[in-house]
Amino acid sequence: MRTQMRDFERRDMGPVLEIIQETMNVGRSPANAIDVMNDLEGGLGTNSPDYAFLARKVVTHEKRVVAICGVYRLNTPPIGIMGICWFAVAPDHQNMGIGTRCVDWCTDVARQEGSKSLFVWASAKAVPFYSKRGFEKSSLKITPKESSILMVKRLTDPKNRSGPRPSQRRVA
Ligand SMILES: CC(C)(COP(=O)(O)OP(=O)(O)OC[C@H]1O[C@@H](n2cnc3c(N)ncnc32)[C@H](O)[C@@H]1OP(=O)(O)O)[C@@H](O)C(=O)NCCC(=O)NCCS
Repeated sequence: MRTQMRDFERRDMGPVLEIIQETMNVGRSPANAIDVMNDLEGGLGTNSPDYAFLARKVVTHEKRVVAICGVYRLNTPPIGIMGICWFAVAPDHQNMGIGTRCVDWCTDVARQEGSKSLFVWASAKAVPFYSKRGFEKSSLKITPKESSILMVKRLTDPKNRSGPRPSQRRVA
């Protein structure tokens, strides 16, 4: 099975929007779809005043885009902490290790950028997934608030050090 991770490009906008519409409760109305696309636009290397740092990847399987993930740092406090954004795997490609690969990439980028922590606004369903990957629920004040559940992974914690986990060995 040929699964690859590469930079998010403009041609990925349609398939990525479809994955987001299928897996998250956003982007379904035409107006909301435009909001999502405008936000994704920021990951194409265009300068956005909101972001101090933004990188996005897609995962492809047999050339089809099957996942999107991004990692960012805002220009607003708390400066210096990075977050995961627009993270979703197409339903027919879940439970194959792709999400784990994406979290590992986000974690590596945050470490390389000198961030001590990595946060995510989690959906309730995704909490167990993040918990198993070193994230803990947090009451840190981060704006804008994007869901009711904020989870943070402390990158300096020895238990969150880099290295393969059993789930990674099964990556597609
Ligand atoms: C949350 C989400 C990103 C996880 O992505 P995923 O690709 O399914 O994640 P993985 O496959 O790496 O891991 C999921 C489970 O599959 C298992 N798995 C991994 N590789 C596997 C394989 N080859 N065969 C069978 N199971 C496997 C893992 O053990 C893991 O279980 P665990 O969490 O109990 O350890 C995905 O479910 C999703 O897109 N959900 C909808 C959108 C969403 O909620 N996004 C997050 C917003 S905050």
